[in-house]
Amino acid sequence: MIEFIKRLPKAELHLHIEGSLEPELMFRLAKKNNVTIPYESVEELRAAYDFTNLQSFLDIYYAGAKVLITQDDFYDLTWEYVLKCVENNIVHTEIFFDPQTHTERGIEFATVINGIKQALADAEKQYGITSAIIMCFLRHLSQEEAFATFEQALEFKDDIIGVGLDSAELDNPPSKFTEVFKAAKDKGFKLVAHAGEEADYSYIYEALDLLDIERIDHGVQSINSPELMQRLKDEQIPLTVCPNSNIELKVFDSYDEHNIKELLDYGLNVSVNSDDPAYFKGYMNQNFINLYENIDLSEADVIELVKNSFRSAFISDELKATYLAQVDAAV
Ligand code: HPA
Ligand code: ZN
Repeated sequence: MIEFIKRLPKAELHLHIEGSLEPELMFRLAKKNNVTIPYESVEELRAAYDFTNLQSFLDIYYAGAKVLITQDDFYDLTWEYVLKCVENNIVHTEIFFDPQTHTERGIEFATVINGIKQALADAEKQYGITSAIIMCFLRHLSQEEAFATFEQALEFKDDIIGVGLDSAELDNPPSKFTEVFKAAKDKGFKLVAHAGEEADYSYIYEALDLLDIERIDHGVQSINSPELMQRLKDEQIPLTVCPNSNIELKVFDSYDEHNIKELLDYGLNVSVNSDDPAYFKGYMNQNFINLYENIDLSEADVIELVKNSFRSAFISDELKATYLAQVDAAV
């Protein structure tokens, strides 16, 4: 089964590029850029990755991102993730980045996007990996600040396929960002949002009905509303689920309690994603392996999860068909 998981071509739809910053690169960049990190060693830093909830992770994640200064840093960050894609047989990836995490520190929007973009262009050239970039608004900040970021992004419209919403979910509901999502839709951006990760399913309704999003990131709290479950099934709205993340951030106490199999069995369009793999103990394949080892995922389940990720990707119908045929061939 593990060999089977590794062999399948996969798509990743929920990956924060800042969350792929491995401790080794963090230390290397800290040294190069003269940024201090409050840990003595890679081992000590890794040991600090012991989270109690989403906020406890975000505190460390935003602190870590401070080592990213130059365009080359963003290139190196993204390139290391590209190499993980090769290792994990990820042939298409749609990555999130958080512009405000960097522009707040005086880093230019262009520095960030150009570094990411160049690495993704090289990934396609060298490995044939296709990709897209989604920029997320930080929901703990105001809608006004999101609008300021949105204005900056317009110059890079051709490089950014969509907008998303991430960071501290509780008390920052989707309704806080209705106007900026409307503006993004008017400009032709695809729309996604984190919803129903820690907060209850009402956030998923808001994301669907007020923000008009096409995919829900996480969405695991939908299980608590039969009516919402029915709607997600009828409309086949994708849920980009991140199992390791949910365990590490204590959304579920253990893998035995994770509900991905129930969501899948009910007929929802769920996929497996790694979220912040450098912080959550593993990339794509490890997420599948953990599911297989803990909740008895079948081969048919794995195939369905993998196919859902391609079906839900922001790519042409032709490319979808090509990738789905590649999955069938690998099976
Ligand atoms: N949830 C919300 N914000 C985030 C996450 C997450 O899982 N990862 C990075 N930013
Ligand atoms: Zn996420």
